[in-house]
Amino acid sequence: MKVFVVVCMLAVAFRLVAAVVVPSAAPGGLTVGYYNGKCNNVNVESIVYNTVKDFLDADRSKGAALVRLLFHDCFVRGCDGSILLDNSTANPTPEKMSGANIGIAGLDVIDAIKAKLETACPGVVSCADIVVFAGRDASRYMSNGGVSFDVPAGRLDGVVSSAADATNTLPDSKTGVATLISNFAKKGFTPEELVILSGAHSIGKAHCSNFDDRLTAPDSEINADYRDNVLSKTCKSAPNPTLANNIRDIDAATLGDLASYVVPAVGGDYLDNSYYKNNKNNLVLFHSDWALVGSNATLQHVNEYAANGTLWNVDFAQALVKLSKLAMPAGSVGQIRKTCRAIN
Ligand code: HEM
Ligand SMILES: *[C@@H]1O[C@H](CO)[C@@H](O)[C@H](O)[C@H]1NC(C)=O
Ligand SMILES: *[C@@H]1O[C@H](CO)[C@@H](O)[C@H](O)[C@H]1NC(C)=O
Ligand SMILES: *[C@@H]1O[C@H](CO)[C@@H](O)[C@H](O)[C@H]1NC(C)=O
Repeated sequence: MKVFVVVCMLAVAFRLVAAVVVPSAAPGGLTVGYYNGKCNNVNVESIVYNTVKDFLDADRSKGAALVRLLFHDCFVRGCDGSILLDNSTANPTPEKMSGANIGIAGLDVIDAIKAKLETACPGVVSCADIVVFAGRDASRYMSNGGVSFDVPAGRLDGVVSSAADATNTLPDSKTGVATLISNFAKKGFTPEELVILSGAHSIGKAHCSNFDDRLTAPDSEINADYRDNVLSKTCKSAPNPTLANNIRDIDAATLGDLASYVVPAVGGDYLDNSYYKNNKNNLVLFHSDWALVGSNATLQHVNEYAANGTLWNVDFAQALVKLSKLAMPAGSVGQIRKTCRAIN
């Protein structure tokens, strides 16, 4: 009974705070189809999808960038567009400037979508929702429709963005499984969801500085041919060059003898469960990827998703929806930015 009273009082107190300080989402919370009828006669989600499609038709690499953007925005202070803010005199080091955001891209796609929507209905669609829609649409495009889902909207844009926050919150590719599990647990994700979300590394690329620890990893943790011939050679080729995350997407000349390991044999930068198959063969890029086969708690899920690509598509979609619901800290100020790169 006492517990019940305390819970009720907390609920009332929370509501009062939430009502006075602008909440991180629109009144009524997040809903699917939130923008229906809110942007004159324009279908907001269609504008986002068509713009994403145009950019990706021209440059497929932006697909991975948009999926990563969703993760990096939502994991730090919730999905609030904080990753989009440029440095300014008032805020010289926003999230973007963190080393954890090296290679962040796709911002031009977000700007183009926002410009179209501001023309159609000024001040209606938040940058935070655009990041989520664009990440969802990029996942669908990159998976040839395999990863396809409705996502709720109604987020507001935040006004806080700190590089230190991003550095402290985003996972590090050189850490082990216990650290990864606790990092994701802090955001409410299970070890299984850590495994599911890591499958996003079936697309995109990475800088050598994020996998140079793998050049000296033992044979038990990485295929020696991949380590010595592909990774080492690439890292020596230029100052901090990039390499495809997925061995499947590395060109045949660089792969040499390893071409026969590639799953499937034909490349193409597709979002699919190949990450798990590669992982079982010690053919993944990051230590944090390999760590998932190094622990029984996560290995069982790697096996599960390696065996069933349809299951991964479905579970990845669900995990992205969950990611998209991470909210700003209670009491945060929200707004609809006029431009995604600066607060109003
Ligand atoms: C499990 C912990 C994770 C770690 C340690 C990690 C780390 C990294 C690193 C170091 C890069 C390369 C950045 C660069 O050097 O340019 C990268 C790329 C990428 N990550 Fe993750 N990541 C993790 C989870 C995720 C999740 C949950 C997603 C999305 C659901 C994701 C999506 C991506 C994508 C798509 C790329 C390629 C980006 C591009 O090519 O533009 N990652 N990740
Ligand atoms: C933003 O950062 C860049 C690169 O460090 C710098 O050249 C520029 O002057 C900064 N802009 C502001 C407004 O601080
Ligand atoms: C996983 O569990 C099995 C027995 O259940 C054990 O033999 C093995 O060493 C464990 N592997 C790891 C990486 O913990
Ligand atoms: C793979 O997962 C899907 C989706 O959950 C399920 O319908 C299907 O039966 C699974 N296939 C196998 C071979 O287990």
